[in-house]
Amino acid sequence: MDWPLFDLRLRYRDVQLRAVREADLPHLCAVLPPDVGHDPRLPLFEHQTLLENERRLLCMGYWKALGTWSPGSWELHLAVEHDGAVIGVQTLEGENFPALRTVDSASWLVPAVRGRGLGVQMRTAVLGLAFGPLQAVAAISSATLGNHASLGVSRRLGYLDNGISRIVDTGGDVAELRNLRLTADRWGGFDVTIDGFGACRPWFGLAA
Ligand SMILES: CC(C)(COP(=O)(O)OP(=O)(O)OC[C@H]1O[C@@H](n2cnc3c(N)ncnc32)[C@H](O)[C@@H]1OP(=O)(O)O)[C@@H](O)C(=O)NCCC(=O)NCCS
Repeated sequence: MDWPLFDLRLRYRDVQLRAVREADLPHLCAVLPPDVGHDPRLPLFEHQTLLENERRLLCMGYWKALGTWSPGSWELHLAVEHDGAVIGVQTLEGENFPALRTVDSASWLVPAVRGRGLGVQMRTAVLGLAFGPLQAVAAISSATLGNHASLGVSRRLGYLDNGISRIVDTGGDVAELRNLRLTADRWGGFDVTIDGFGACRPWFGLAA
């Protein structure tokens, strides 16, 4: 199958990132933490528990990303490997990317490995792709005001505050998000190893 994104590999210090595959879904669902933090605008099914909803949203997000990929707008779901095990997911998203050259990201880790700097390492890996061969000009991120770990990852990598936004969640409540932004000139240029990108270039709207 001509889907070169499956051969893309990112490596930075203790983590390796590669595309999530269908065969990863049972494991990812089994280890998915309840605080994964789905987009609060996504509808929840009443007959499902919170964790069942999170598992469904994980699978639907993966299928949607594959089924709607276009060079203009894309969402890359990467499995994060550490010590031979898949410990979480890091996504990188480009909406109208060829024009805006701005990436967004989201991530989660199994609780047992949090707080050791792996969250910073996996974000560094995708930013290495974004500010490296993808030639992004900016990366944005947002998290609820109390999500100190997510905000901590962004701040550690040089993102600056970019205001507060308010969104309406599925229950009709207003949630506040802190927005952050990192521009290419502030990117630390970490030594991320990227393999298999050449064949992916047209998939991101870049010349082959
Ligand atoms: C967000 C997440 C991936 C970050 O990974 P992590 O391994 O916990 O984070 P790191 O160990 O790399 O720490 C990143 C920074 O945040 C800080 N930090 C981490 N957890 C923190 C906490 N609970 N309170 C305050 N600061 C915290 C760290 O000190 C570090 O900053 P420093 O390098 O300047 O010391 C992980 O916590 C997670 O899976 N959370 C649940 C899912 C989630 O909220 N995802 C984001 C949705 S927007």
